[in-house]
Amino acid sequence: MAPSVTVYEVGPRDGLQNEAASVPTAEKLALVRALADAGVRRIEATSFVSPRWIPQLADAGELVRALPRLPGVSFVVLVPNAKGLERLSECLDVAGERRADVEAAVVISASEQHNRKNLNRTVEETLRELEGLVPAARAAGLRVRGYVSTVFGCPYEGRIAPERPAAIAAQLVALGCAQVSLGDTIGVATPGDTRRVLERILEDVPADRLALHMHDTHGTALANVLVGLEAGIDTFDASIGGLGGCPYAPGASGNLATEDLVYMLHGMGYETGIDLGKLVAAGALAQRIVGRRLPGKTLQAELAKGA
Ligand code: COA
Ligand code: ZN
Repeated sequence: MAPSVTVYEVGPRDGLQNEAASVPTAEKLALVRALADAGVRRIEATSFVSPRWIPQLADAGELVRALPRLPGVSFVVLVPNAKGLERLSECLDVAGERRADVEAAVVISASEQHNRKNLNRTVEETLRELEGLVPAARAAGLRVRGYVSTVFGCPYEGRIAPERPAAIAAQLVALGCAQVSLGDTIGVATPGDTRRVLERILEDVPADRLALHMHDTHGTALANVLVGLEAGIDTFDASIGGLGGCPYAPGASGNLATEDLVYMLHGMGYETGIDLGKLVAAGALAQRIVGRRLPGKTLQAELAKGA
């Protein structure tokens, strides 16, 4: 049997939160459906953050209520604090029954300055907050994913000692996060960095609890995925077409493009459950929605063939 890898789609959240224009809810839902139709099984749909901070996701409640129920597909929703969890919880009870196909994600940075810009808290304050938030989400019946941002570098502090993300990732697991996603928020890691940092983190957290979230600012995201695969990681985050960036990380380009990830994985004999042709169609839809050409290389190559 071919080894299987989970492709975790972040475009509707990580991607669209960085678009200048707000996308209508119906178009976000169409994108989510197109991704699920292509075989993507985990989709980060939106985020219950302050609409003053991220107006692009102000429709989170409406969107979550309208998320389709699809066999085998789960949706993940980012909640930065108790207020976000409360807003999410209000959307989960349908006809007296709690949806079981929605999960929560929480976020913290490995670097002090990025955490302050992104969450208006020190790392220590965010850890204290998560000590309440993660168990509360689990008590509400939600599986929780933890993000550690700026694992491989910070736009304000540069390189980060691997002990810091290792300690934070271990604490997230101890709090009850089912999975911890290690983010190269500004896309600076090269394969050597990824290997070195992963080796340190794997001393504290087993590979089957980890995911990699690489941005492709310098074109090294796929090479870093390869290092992750060799280290035993089986979940990789990507965004359709390479949508995304980070509002508090100037110059950060988009996430690794989902189609590029799937193209490489399939070529290497990994199974993802995804139909690349349909994924490209979802990428074409994403381009129409945001009204610009997206950077995904496989997307552009496949669309050029059809042109
Ligand atoms: N949803 C909606 N509104 C929220 C909220 C949430 N999850 N959290 C806070 N607010 C509102 C508060 O009600 C308050 O409103 P008011 O001024 O009308 O009373 C206001 O925002 C400030 O609340 P406060 O708790 O002081 O928050 P803050 O200003 O310290 O910001 C965060 C904290 C986490 C809400 C904010 O940093 C944030 O949303 N960051 C976005 C992070 C993000 O998503 N980054 C990209 C993904 S990694
Ligand atoms: Zn990202």
